[in-house]
Amino acid sequence: MSTALAFDIYGTLIDPHGVVTELQQQVGDAAAEFSRVWREKQLEYTWRRSLMQRYRNFGVCTRQALDYTDRLLQTELNDSVKDSLMQAYRTLPAYDDVPASLELLKNAGHRLYPFSNGTVDMVSAVLEHAGIDHFFEEVISVDGLQTFKPDPEVYRHVIKVTDVDPGSCWLVSSNGFDVIGAVSAGMKAAWLKRFDGVVFDPWDIDPTLVIRKLGELPHQIGS
Ligand code: LAC
Repeated sequence: MSTALAFDIYGTLIDPHGVVTELQQQVGDAAAEFSRVWREKQLEYTWRRSLMQRYRNFGVCTRQALDYTDRLLQTELNDSVKDSLMQAYRTLPAYDDVPASLELLKNAGHRLYPFSNGTVDMVSAVLEHAGIDHFFEEVISVDGLQTFKPDPEVYRHVIKVTDVDPGSCWLVSSNGFDVIGAVSAGMKAAWLKRFDGVVFDPWDIDPTLVIRKLGELPHQIGS
């Protein structure tokens, strides 16, 4: 039976800190810290907007998190620099192991979906730029639901769109909050522990499996 694999995008297939090179030209040595705060704030804004039922899309959350980071770190970026950083977000790179692993999974007969907080437009642009869009079925975005991960509604939406038995519907994500959200909503989930020192939230909701490299996934899931 066919397995549906829904891949988280930012942090799992696409490196959100790929913007550091562009940031270095603007903020010098503060680039890595800027990128870290920007990403953390972006996610915080999605959680707060979901709770408050004040949805604005992921592009808006990203831009407002950029404005916040600029204020916090007193970097005084002008609008044209901020526009160019937002543009850079559309051309972020894929992690090195991504193309070969997607190819193996696709050749094994699995159906692959991008599944993201990002809008269809943002996600399509970044996948196309990274040259990996051809591996996937349609982009599944939270945008139509006007809420964000880890609202259980977004995972139920994945099960519905992929039209497979929930036991054959997997999330693959490096983001622990995403993995916990998926398992809690009835999906299977592989946690990709990309970096040493990253720890999983001790919530008593465990990943179905833990992988250290995306290339382990084809063997673990089978065909
Ligand atoms: C996404 C965020 C969680 O791609 O990174 O959905």
